[in-house]
Amino acid sequence: MAAAPHHHRGHLVLAVLSLAAAFAAAVDSSSHNITAVLDGRSEYTLYNSYLSETKVCDEINSEHTVTVLVLTNGAMSSLVANLSLAEIKNALRMLTLLDYFDEKKLHSLDSGSELTTSLYQKTGQAAGNMGHVNITDLRGGKVGFASAAPGAKFQSTYTKRVDTEPSTLSVLEVSDPITFPGLFGSPSASSVNLTDILDKAGCKQFARLIVSSGVVKMYQAAMDKALTLLAPNDDAFKAKGLPDLSKLSSADLVTLLQYHALPQYAPKASLKVAKGDIPTLASTGAGKYGLSVVSSGDDVSLDTGLGKSRVASTVLDDTPTVILTVDKLLLPSELFGGAPSPAPAPGPAADVPASAPAPETSAPAPSPKAAAKKKKAKSPSHSPPAPPADSPDLAPADAPEGDAEDKADSKKNGAAAAAVSLAATVACIALAVAAFL
Ligand SMILES: *[C@@H]1O[C@H](CO)[C@@H](O)[C@H](O)[C@H]1NC(C)=O
Ligand SMILES: *[C@@H]1O[C@H](CO)[C@@H](O)[C@H](O)[C@H]1NC(C)=O
Ligand SMILES: *[C@@H]1O[C@H](CO)[C@@H](O)[C@H](O)[C@H]1NC(C)=O
Ligand SMILES: *[C@@H]1O[C@H](CO)[C@@H](O)[C@H](O)[C@H]1NC(C)=O
Repeated sequence: MAAAPHHHRGHLVLAVLSLAAAFAAAVDSSSHNITAVLDGRSEYTLYNSYLSETKVCDEINSEHTVTVLVLTNGAMSSLVANLSLAEIKNALRMLTLLDYFDEKKLHSLDSGSELTTSLYQKTGQAAGNMGHVNITDLRGGKVGFASAAPGAKFQSTYTKRVDTEPSTLSVLEVSDPITFPGLFGSPSASSVNLTDILDKAGCKQFARLIVSSGVVKMYQAAMDKALTLLAPNDDAFKAKGLPDLSKLSSADLVTLLQYHALPQYAPKASLKVAKGDIPTLASTGAGKYGLSVVSSGDDVSLDTGLGKSRVASTVLDDTPTVILTVDKLLLPSELFGGAPSPAPAPGPAADVPASAPAPETSAPAPSPKAAAKKKKAKSPSHSPPAPPADSPDLAPADAPEGDAEDKADSKKNGAAAAAVSLAATVACIALAVAAFL
């Protein structure tokens, strides 16, 4: 047994990983693509294009159980007339309910009314429970939707069924948006002062550096096209073992700061599903100065090859600009890696080939356990995706506290979560066994 040839171990690991990945993918088979569902339905083209532009489609697709209330082109065009993209994004989130409602369920609500959570509530921007939606069976057989804000009117009513994927995705047409005073008025990129907003978000050090180096001008130029800023918070600058930034040449400092920005619009939900190496403003081609994403549940981190930095909060999200804070400086291996590059491409001799099958929808983080085992099994530092320890959709971490319907949601997701974690456990055990061989 102890004499088992080395390469068998690799094969076993691979076989088990594929099995676990396939199992996890099967469990996750409920995953949907709202863009594809609405594609080719000419009455919702405007709604669909805003879902893509604001990337709310990524947020919807990562929800397991969801009802999307869509507006026709007519209703949509009057909604968007005077709104910024940040505001339209919030309107679309308000129309996304984190529970499954089909026509039958709408007409058989307990005591004719139910309160449910919207994607807007989940994003954490909602004041109180304004982001909850009250669904009520109105007189005359109409079903109305309104914000849970006091005195909100049931302006939005159910008009027809568009599509359903039983118990996971329901797409219904409604007459009007669900709004309340205060839904609109979020900061828009064109009206903010970058250094001011970074200061207020607890990123004073970073703000100071981008001004002193002049990089703020590059960011501002990029904001017109597409920019995702990954701003380290002030605590990140207090981390132990940080290189002395004052010793960097000004060219290297500029590169370091450019490394903290992506030339694309990638809010957190979109980062979560990003695959492979993501170019930064410092990237010159040939895969240099890229970042990779590791995610687990609602947690999203960026890996430089030298370390990971977690996305902490969203400061501004107004297509095509998003400003996120991160809890550590992003140190590119190209500048701080020392002599032997710490981020080689996985070689052909790697135990787990890069082509290992992975679940389609994400670049999941290996569980700490799996990661430890894998290190033992000598996989390269840029390891290919392992089966998810935890499906991104299932962690109710962002959910508002203490709401009955949220608990109901978690219960519903519980079974799937158990199945996914079973898959992860199988993978862990198998890796342990493989290491033993
Ligand atoms: C969803 O479908 C659209 C086309 O309808 C496609 O462009 C997009 O890549 C799909 N998204 C995912 C995550 O598969
Ligand atoms: C948009 O704003 C303009 C001027 O501010 C106003 O005249 C118009 O009625 C508004 N349109 C809508 C749909 O609110
Ligand atoms: C929904 O709103 C109506 C009217 O304001 C109210 O009577 C009802 O109690 C609300 N339903 C829930 C579940 O809060
Ligand atoms: C942003 O505000 C700071 C002061 O808070 C000011 O010095 C700077 O010029 C402003 N930047 C722009 C682009 O207006």
